[in-house]
Amino acid sequence: MSIDIPTITLNNGVSMPQLGFGVFQVPDEETTTAVTAALQAGYRSIDTAAIYGNEAGVGRAIAESGIARDDLFLTSKVWNSDQGYDATLRAYDTTLAKLGVDALDLYLIHWPAPAQDLYRDTWRALERIHADGRVRAIGVSNFEPEHLDRLLASAEVVPAVNQVELHPAFQNRAVVAANTEHGIATEAWSPLAQGAALGSEPVLTAAAAHGVTPAQVVLRWHLQQGRIIIPKSVTPARIAENLAVFGFDLTDDELTAIDALDVHGRTGPHPATFEG
Ligand SMILES: NC(=O)c1ccc[n+]([C@@H]2O[C@H](COP(=O)([O-])OP(=O)(O)OC[C@H]3O[C@@H](n4cnc5c(N)ncnc54)[C@H](OP(=O)(O)O)[C@@H]3O)[C@@H](O)[C@H]2O)c1
Repeated sequence: MSIDIPTITLNNGVSMPQLGFGVFQVPDEETTTAVTAALQAGYRSIDTAAIYGNEAGVGRAIAESGIARDDLFLTSKVWNSDQGYDATLRAYDTTLAKLGVDALDLYLIHWPAPAQDLYRDTWRALERIHADGRVRAIGVSNFEPEHLDRLLASAEVVPAVNQVELHPAFQNRAVVAANTEHGIATEAWSPLAQGAALGSEPVLTAAAAHGVTPAQVVLRWHLQQGRIIIPKSVTPARIAENLAVFGFDLTDDELTAIDALDVHGRTGPHPATFEG
């Protein structure tokens, strides 16, 4: 199926689908089934990571899909224990081999892991891979403003993306502002707060008004604010539902009501202290 998914133009001119498919916490075997369902539904961007242990499962689904590599956008991430220049170069080769591809579209530093103090060396490795034409864009994940500042002080390439926790209860505004200031696209992980974002009154009211589901309202809220999103589901009906978000618009009042749900409700680890 072909669905017209909007794209975001990254700071190096590369186009990235604004809506992709996440596979965190999906076992490798099940990943092939889920990604196959997602590709059949019309997703073309897949977000995985070395630590998820399912890059091979993603690779199998891609290979079996028959979809041209150029029509896919593949993201993976270097794990904390592989940070540092040489280890990251090796980790990238392993990731490519598991996915069965020659290059990624986007490669991210998964966490800053600041106590290790390696993310600037890791970034140099990503810059090397990028300069060699082996990845189309490089970026970071879970970087706080201070990590971005420190990285940018020595970086040659500005990250294209910062993938961070972001959903109605945790809107991560200081990070979004820093990303915008530096020309870095914001990508929201756990865009549905793993399902916890779906029961609040403004979301339910908007869902009833538009005849859509609460998940579709929350995803639409992200999209209308220009963010990249990567909802995850292993349930075929939800995989399709999460893609059917281009036939309605939330009003400004509905967007504002969801904006007001921010209670700084972080669900994941804090990037300043998480070392993995
Ligand atoms: N960079 C990072 O550190 C980081 C951290 C976390 C996540 N991520 C990425 O972001 C992706 C998304 O985040 P996430 O997986 O944590 O959470 P999420 O996408 O916010 O939510 C996934 C959960 O919501 C359920 N769900 C999905 N669609 C639904 C719908 N339409 N209605 C009701 N429930 C629905 C899923 O259930 P079923 O699967 O059972 O259907 C699953 O339990 C990940 O898969 C991963 O690629 C990155």
